[in-house]
Amino acid sequence: MITLLKDKHILLGVCGSIAAYKAADLASKLTQAGALVDVIITPAAEKFITPLTFQSVTGRKAYTEADLWGGQAHILHVGLSHATDLLVVAPCTANTLAKMAHGLADNLLTITALAARCPILIAPAMDVGMYTHTATQENVRILTSRGVTFAGPDEGRMASGLIGKGRMLEPADLFGHIRLILGKTGRLAGKHITISAGGTQEPIDPVRFISNRSSGKQGYALAQAALDAGAQVTLVSAPTGLVPPVGASFIPVNTAREMLASVLAASHNSHALLMAAAVADFSPKNTSDQKIKKRDGIPTIELEAAPDILGILSTPGYTQPKPKVIVGFAAESRDLLENAAEKLRTKKMDLIVANDISASDAGFGVDTNRVTLLHADGSSEDLPLLSKVEVSETIIERLATLLENN
Ligand code: C5P
Repeated sequence: MITLLKDKHILLGVCGSIAAYKAADLASKLTQAGALVDVIITPAAEKFITPLTFQSVTGRKAYTEADLWGGQAHILHVGLSHATDLLVVAPCTANTLAKMAHGLADNLLTITALAARCPILIAPAMDVGMYTHTATQENVRILTSRGVTFAGPDEGRMASGLIGKGRMLEPADLFGHIRLILGKTGRLAGKHITISAGGTQEPIDPVRFISNRSSGKQGYALAQAALDAGAQVTLVSAPTGLVPPVGASFIPVNTAREMLASVLAASHNSHALLMAAAVADFSPKNTSDQKIKKRDGIPTIELEAAPDILGILSTPGYTQPKPKVIVGFAAESRDLLENAAEKLRTKKMDLIVANDISASDAGFGVDTNRVTLLHADGSSEDLPLLSKVEVSETIIERLATLLENN
């Protein structure tokens, strides 16, 4: 369940394209996240997929052209469009796109689109020649100028065998675009938030490095929660293998030094900084240009202090513009609250998220976390065992309050 999507009414229009089968996955993802998904299948889409497919994943009725002429005909399109938070047309063919651009209303989907007063998201799917055709491009321009959002199309292999731009965006990406639209007016609208994530990698030689067990899951979940709340997000990330959330400006880094440079640069115009990254405390003093060979014996690796990013930001000598609110993390295996409180004070944070990494269901790698939030005013909150997504939503709520009171 995702708070942003819970009980949101999403109307999914499905047109006649082979990508229609992917719309079932999208409907399923939205439903699992808590949304109420109604589906309209155009007559051409009925050739590719059945209403039963959608009903099976949404638990709600999927409408076809036959419903337009049924008992509720005179109000169905108005009812559907007015009860909706977002109309998503995915896949949208060149034909439906053209009809929507010119106000044609000749089937249940296009009538409903014309009656809709909610935001509209279109995911085009068509052959490359059709997408690049001046007529289609002109229709995209008309709809964009009216406030319709387009997601995709992607480049890749088409049903025709041609390679080019015209593939419908993957459901996971469309899901991200839907979140961006629904979150636009959230508590962090107009705020720029920088978030660091992952464990830095400090090179020993071209193939070896020193790192830590951070998976980046908590940092990425925070970035998504901030986007859900309407923030503009910069995600500075050490390597994690995770996919950055749709809508985040992504800055990949490797070392603590690189993270320092990117975090400081992004912090210049950020309202808040959330340092979820596990930044190295020590890095090898010298990095060998060549791979260190076994035959040369066991090397001695001398370490030096890595830059302490929050430490640098909190020194009186740091005079550059910096975020109003700073949130840090403390991953500790003993004396959790004492150590966290000490970091909160010395690094001049507004909030520190303390988590006990000695528990098997919290901290590194796992999907759940049990944290205590310590505020600069001395107050604290013990959160129960939650998913990292729920922990992130709570932290973002507290961050919004801190920004509102600052
Ligand atoms: O590593 P430590 O427990 O001190 O981390 C506390 C906070 O300081 C975290 O938010 C972490 O991202 C940040 N930190 C940092 N630079 C470092 C080490 C940690 O900004 N070199």
